[in-house]
Amino acid sequence: MSLLDAVPTVHQAPKKVGPGTYVIQDVQHALGAPLSVYLNSAVIQGAEPIVVDTGSARNREQWLQDVFGLVEPEDVRWVFLTHDDSDHTGNLSQVMDACPNARLVCSWTLVERFANAYEFPLQRCRWLNDGESFDAGDRMLVALRPPVYDSPATRGLYDTSTGVYWAADAFASPVPGGPGVAPADTIADVDPEAWWGGMVMFGIHALSPWLSMVDATRYAACVKEVRSHGMSTIISGHSPVIDGPRVEQAFDMIGRLAGTTPPPCPDQAVLDVMLAAMGGE
Ligand SMILES: [Fe+2]
Ligand SMILES: [Fe+2]
Repeated sequence: MSLLDAVPTVHQAPKKVGPGTYVIQDVQHALGAPLSVYLNSAVIQGAEPIVVDTGSARNREQWLQDVFGLVEPEDVRWVFLTHDDSDHTGNLSQVMDACPNARLVCSWTLVERFANAYEFPLQRCRWLNDGESFDAGDRMLVALRPPVYDSPATRGLYDTSTGVYWAADAFASPVPGGPGVAPADTIADVDPEAWWGGMVMFGIHALSPWLSMVDATRYAACVKEVRSHGMSTIISGHSPVIDGPRVEQAFDMIGRLAGTTPPPCPDQAVLDVMLAAMGGE
């Protein structure tokens, strides 16, 4: 058995989180723990439909079915790419080929970092830096970098018409789940202590280990600035939907990450335990 064989993915149907706004859900079970991790992307319907990130190659068939069950390929006008990681770019080539009327919203940084893996159709690209926006006909969308990220290319996407903020990797946290257990549907279904523990573990070990080096005051100002846009719902690549009073709580938690010491990062001893549990290979 390989480690990859031991990480089954589970399909969850697309979830509506706002007017015309859907999370495309993929779920992966965590190794060695009764936990699951979302691998999400999103679709925004409207005058000029938008595909937000492009999922994992491993989930290609289901992902394409989910996305094109919500929008016809020729109607897609924008593909917004947050950053260059494989769980966000896995079906980029397939989407750009299937959607001839789509422009690719990306950036110089993203092209520089990812051109080794994808031949960017530069004539179809729209480069958008942090804080800049684009008009999708019936709404303005702001490229808004979250406080926590694992690539310098990262920008989230804030839909000013619905209040929904796509936060890329930020707010990532595993949720109770594992084989045979449905993962939490919204963050309200997750125990607050488990949520905080998951955000610390992922935020520091899997996204932004540099948090221990940042100036806490300047970091807090960054969190406050992002929050000031007034989003009512947060969707993330790696969290169930965060809405209602949990939005405020989520920003409070992410603001505290800079001064927090995480538990040790799993090491070879942990891997040995997992391998033994998998049959001793
Ligand atoms: Fe990432
Ligand atoms: Fe990610």
